[in-house]
Amino acid sequence: MKRRDFVKVIFSTIAVSGLGGKLKIMAGNKSSFPVAVGTWKHSKGAIEKAKVLLEKGFRAIDVVEKSINITECDPDVMSVGYGGLPNEEGVVQLDAAIMDGATLRCGAVAALEGIKTPISVARKVMETTKHIMLVGEGAKKFALANGFKEENLLTDRARERWLEWKRNLNKNDNWLSPDQYHDTIGVIILDSKGSMATGVSTSGLAWKIPGRIGDSPIVGAGSYCDNQAGGAVATGVGEEVIRVAGCHLIVELMRMGWDP
Ligand code: GLY
Repeated sequence: MKRRDFVKVIFSTIAVSGLGGKLKIMAGNKSSFPVAVGTWKHSKGAIEKAKVLLEKGFRAIDVVEKSINITECDPDVMSVGYGGLPNEEGVVQLDAAIMDGATLRCGAVAALEGIKTPISVARKVMETTKHIMLVGEGAKKFALANGFKEENLLTDRARERWLEWKRNLNKNDNWLSPDQYHDTIGVIILDSKGSMATGVSTSGLAWKIPGRIGDSPIVGAGSYCDNQAGGAVATGVGEEVIRVAGCHLIVELMRMGWDP
């Protein structure tokens, strides 16, 4: 792939909202706040929830969490939370990250099993620990200790899709499928006080090798925000976004005045 095409792919999969470029005008005009940006059709319910919460005066960080929870709990969304497609062993492993643009505090979980709302666990990591990312068994233990409920996340529909994939496997297959794609939910919120927060949540690539982690829980790759510059969230094949630290790159370009 030529570098120019590569950059085009990366940029086309990242939702951005900034205070640089055109949106600088917005920063001087408080009536333009609040703003909510979401990725894909499946963020519609999340953004509707965001609208209600923003109108009630909730802070950006609360709105990001509560809006993403809507999509995480929707069994019909097969790339996020409950109902997400599993890894190659039929186990749903979830990744999520949340960031507060006012303080640059952030939290993340990766390869988390059995908990429907990984964005809320990520927030707990951010607010109650000195760590940023917890993975696998440790993340689950942390969630259970904080009152999250363990549930079976594999719906019948997702299980059928997994069985169909297994039936079509060939012993010569590898993990280099050219047609992998991924529909992470990413949300950027600018609240009525001008504070920003970002969040992402995903079940990661379908049929991934157990333990594979994409861009979503890696702050700077799958999401980033800073009240002084703007915010970005990514969706698509995480490996491509990690290579260029996609969201941090975009926020830094906005800081330099680039248009979102
Ligand atoms: N962008 C989500 C993933 O690759 O896992």
